[in-house]
Amino acid sequence: MNYQDRLLKAIPGGAHTYSRGFDQFPSNAPQILERGEGAYVWDPEGRRYLDYGMALRAVTLGYAYPSVADAACREILKGNNLTRASTTELEAAELLVDLIPCADMVKFAKNGSNVTTAAVKVARAYTSRPYICIPRQHPFFSFDDWFIGSTVLTRGIPEQHASKTLVFDYGDIASLQALFDAYPGQIAGVMLEPATTITPCPPGCKVTLTYESQCRPCVRRSENFLHKVQALCRKNEALFILDEMITGFRWHLEGAQTYFGVEPDLSTFGKGMANGFSVAALVGRREIMEVGSISEPGAERTFLMSTTHGGEMSSLRAFIETVKVYKEKNVCQHLWHYGAKLRSGLLDLAREFDLVDQFQVDGPPISMNYSTRDANGAVSMEFRTLFAQEMARNGVLMSWIAVSLSHSDTELQLTLEAARKSLQVYAKALHDGVDKYLEGPAVKPVFRKYN
Ligand SMILES: Cc1ncc(COP(=O)(O)O)c(C=O)c1O
Repeated sequence: MNYQDRLLKAIPGGAHTYSRGFDQFPSNAPQILERGEGAYVWDPEGRRYLDYGMALRAVTLGYAYPSVADAACREILKGNNLTRASTTELEAAELLVDLIPCADMVKFAKNGSNVTTAAVKVARAYTSRPYICIPRQHPFFSFDDWFIGSTVLTRGIPEQHASKTLVFDYGDIASLQALFDAYPGQIAGVMLEPATTITPCPPGCKVTLTYESQCRPCVRRSENFLHKVQALCRKNEALFILDEMITGFRWHLEGAQTYFGVEPDLSTFGKGMANGFSVAALVGRREIMEVGSISEPGAERTFLMSTTHGGEMSSLRAFIETVKVYKEKNVCQHLWHYGAKLRSGLLDLAREFDLVDQFQVDGPPISMNYSTRDANGAVSMEFRTLFAQEMARNGVLMSWIAVSLSHSDTELQLTLEAARKSLQVYAKALHDGVDKYLEGPAVKPVFRKYN
């Protein structure tokens, strides 16, 4: 049995994240990995790949970053998880509270899904209202029913579990206003990612997004979608909740909320906090977070995320050390700058092979994705798979684009050499037909109803 068969036999889906499934990678990608170091991963046969998956974007410094690994190991030898709150837990909590402007208090957990679900619960408890609004364009907030039940993946979820989740369109404030009109006084909060490849910037805004060009001084700030959502939430006394699972520790060390100059009531972080160690966090304003408190005698309690492993010392120390490295090395600036070089290199190659209408790079340099089209201009998963297949053949895993501090000029050069060869094949496949070059099935969307 090969690794894939063994994985599928032992684990439903063959991995612990659907994004790691065999249906997300070309057939020549390694079926399993053994270790990672810097920007590279190795399979059990010793083949090395330059990685742009970076553990589903959780690793932002590079795999096995020495100071983070050492700091985590020291905590393991201190016991790793004690009977009462640990000094490490307090240090980590105070650090995050100092770092993120909207954070007066923090509750740590292990998975992003737990903290987004906790944000929903806190919002409902604080406002005594049932409904939560999310944008349909944002693919994932939680594995819990309140969110997954609002997608096509409803199997196993009683209808009422997601019946209080309402959907609007990112960028279209009228669609959110319509929900406030339809459910007056009943919306507890609006949860969204600050940005994806689609930004909240006003249409036609001339400012190119870079690390240096934060939107804070933007004269058109009130036209920025995030500012509009914030204003609508304030007007309707609903909580403004930013899920920074992906944007956090990338757009800006204080979050994309600082980059765009907004002040959410609650916010969630996870990937990127601890360079791949398992840490997620719900943060927010004190009076809201206090619903989870046990201090006020006689107050009704909200049971807010009580987990055995939330205070695990090794991962919280990894978080503390990761923040230190971010400050010392200006990691966010590096991620932006590398992204910009990669973006322009890929676009130059697309031009060179006359593929500007077929191979495109969407989003700002910190939040890029490539999109692939066939000869008729239709979005094509076959061509996406072909590109990823050829990149893998040339030693680069690029099913999506996540960069780290360990991606440097050497890695950029390696990537662009691989992309040159891959786009050459792309161009031939446009002419000869993609089936002639594609060696396995096309990748499929994660959030589809049927296998
Ligand atoms: C925006 C966003 N929110 C929440 C989550 C859930 O995080 P986790 O996988 O740690 O549960 C993810 C994970 O991909 C995410 O991308």
